[in-house]
Amino acid sequence: MTTIDVAPAADLRPDEVALQDAGGTLRGTMRSWAPVKISKERIDAEIDRLAACPTPPGGRRVSLLVHPESTGPGPGLAPGIQVAIEVLTPGERTTPVRQNAGTVQIGIRGRGVVAVAGTEHVLEVFDVASVPAMKPHEFRNTGDDLWVRLSYSNAPLLAKLGVHYVEELTSSAPVARPDDEAGAGSGRGTAPDLPIGTEGARLRGYEHIVDSEVVQNAPLHWPWAEVSQHLTSEVGDGKRPILAYYNPATERRCGATHNFFVTAMVVPPGKPSANVERGHRHTSVAINYHVRGTGHSVVDGRRIDWKAGDLLLSAPGWAEHTHHWGPDGLAAFTVQDHPQQIGMESLVWQEEIDGPVLALGSEAGQTGYIGPREAG
Ligand SMILES: [Fe+2]
Repeated sequence: MTTIDVAPAADLRPDEVALQDAGGTLRGTMRSWAPVKISKERIDAEIDRLAACPTPPGGRRVSLLVHPESTGPGPGLAPGIQVAIEVLTPGERTTPVRQNAGTVQIGIRGRGVVAVAGTEHVLEVFDVASVPAMKPHEFRNTGDDLWVRLSYSNAPLLAKLGVHYVEELTSSAPVARPDDEAGAGSGRGTAPDLPIGTEGARLRGYEHIVDSEVVQNAPLHWPWAEVSQHLTSEVGDGKRPILAYYNPATERRCGATHNFFVTAMVVPPGKPSANVERGHRHTSVAINYHVRGTGHSVVDGRRIDWKAGDLLLSAPGWAEHTHHWGPDGLAAFTVQDHPQQIGMESLVWQEEIDGPVLALGSEAGQTGYIGPREAG
């Protein structure tokens, strides 16, 4: 097994730390990246280019969609989100790996197997699958066509922290632990757990740190053939236009992975676009992949036209945005780093641009059903 890209630390003296006077008013930093679009034509051309290349090491025919403002470690389409086009030709497979980034996979052409720690799912077009962090996994094209996926990862965030861990493996089977390690010895069950004061503070033995409670995170699969039955297809059919792909491991953070939520939104042909002049904004970042219809988004006053097959950074963090569709309605997948931000208590949301600023997940949020005036 090989750990990849372990760079040595800089050769600094231990006392080379700057002291920076930060007295005065506490100031935040809110700077939205510009909204960008990767057109269907560019995506298709890149798929062709990847398919024509000699097989790269690891079998990974991969292109990252890199925002022009992306700098430093971890190139991404947003500061903390990597979006990749991943291609396998018929019969190809990737080398098994595990990594501490979790990914969402959306099939956009062909079919293949997502094999994760002994579980196998066949990913068809518009199916969604989760690949949890540190689970051995590989991808195999089992079809006759190119197999193409959009892969969303939190790797840029980890790279900026200097801790994106990747390990090559010989198989995608679960990594075995010696019997004398797994579950042996004294764990948190026998460790001290003591109340301090009367407001909930506690003291705990170190076993609680190194033998953390495990929340099982199974690799999940949402076939489009099943998901689409729950989404509206005709005006007036009473079905919801937007639904979230939920992985119970994410608990109240409502994600498909611990980092990302995925939603599918469908607007039937003939349903008029919502007549909204102002949008909403949130510290989470939304990336839309359009699969049907045409329309435009307005992001911090900039209009971006889109059509089926286009992928947009449609809601950079804290950028006001609205989305508008044409007579054919729309269908789109939205991926957003909402669960990750709830985990940090950093998800600030302003539904009405002159309304209250809410901390979703740590105080009461929107109540009642909020009409989907937009996707993402
Ligand atoms: Fe939004």
